[in-house]
Amino acid sequence: MLLTDRTAVVTGAGSGIGREIALGFAAEGARIAVLDRSREAGAVVVAELVAVGAREPVLAEVDVRSAAAVDEAIEEVAGVMGRIDILVNCAGVREIGDVYTMPAEEWENVIAINLSGTFYCCQSVARRMRETGGGSIVNLASVGGLIGLSHRPAYSAAKHGIVGLTKSLARDLASAGIRVNALCPGVIRTPMTEQYFSDASFEQELAVSVPLARCGETSDVAQAALYLASDMASYVTGVALPVDGGWLAEKSFVSGSGGASFLAGRETRFP
Ligand SMILES: NC(=O)c1ccc[n+]([C@@H]2O[C@H](COP(=O)([O-])OP(=O)(O)OC[C@H]3O[C@@H](n4cnc5c(N)ncnc54)[C@H](O)[C@@H]3O)[C@@H](O)[C@H]2O)c1
Repeated sequence: MLLTDRTAVVTGAGSGIGREIALGFAAEGARIAVLDRSREAGAVVVAELVAVGAREPVLAEVDVRSAAAVDEAIEEVAGVMGRIDILVNCAGVREIGDVYTMPAEEWENVIAINLSGTFYCCQSVARRMRETGGGSIVNLASVGGLIGLSHRPAYSAAKHGIVGLTKSLARDLASAGIRVNALCPGVIRTPMTEQYFSDASFEQELAVSVPLARCGETSDVAQAALYLASDMASYVTGVALPVDGGWLAEKSFVSGSGGASFLAGRETRFP
């Protein structure tokens, strides 16, 4: 097992990607602390962890927008578990909005949860990791942290911020033995994206625009997180790893296989 005797704090673990990471890390031997602003959702995941025989999971209700609340929750969790070896920042929200009409409160909320919340958790946990000899931090960014996504100005800005934060912290925390990396998922089916799937054509269109021809599953992200959190990635820090089926690798002018012929038909070959 890859995480025997390790402890892992997973924020946003009450749902979607965070839940899958909590269950996946527990299956690799880690003791898990589930942090979420929804106590009910967190308690359901703790019950699932207990049901699969996970080692004494811990639950803490916290809103990551508050630095003080984060520090209090991390203090509590570190007290119970003794130390924190791994932090995965999954707590996040996404807006879909128009730049001309987006209310300031919506912008501020997305930045507060996704970017400031990630920083507060990194800061609080890093203080403790430094005392105990190091650790690994994995931040959930997005493909929207590497390119600008339309109609998501706050989300794209926050996710670009998470990529920058990750690189900055990777430099500053390396001397304390703390690695910091980011994951940049494409479309992953979770409660956050479920509304897209109500349209029957969505998955077909996704299959055309994603080279690996399917939408992502939470397990795809959890396995990448496991790699970065574990000693398998002991020489990896400061990366922003896409988990997107190749979507970012090649952006055609035309979606799908038609893209190559679209360009080829307009190219001049020189002898
Ligand atoms: N689903 C995708 O397609 C996708 C793609 C790229 C990146 N991501 C990122 O992955 C992370 C997890 O997304 P998901 O799809 O699992 O979403 P989700 O909505 O299923 O889960 C998000 C969790 O975060 C918690 N949360 C929200 N605000 C919080 C706060 N202020 N304090 C504490 N907890 C809070 C929620 O209660 C929920 O349990 C997010 O950062 C998201 O931006 C998701």
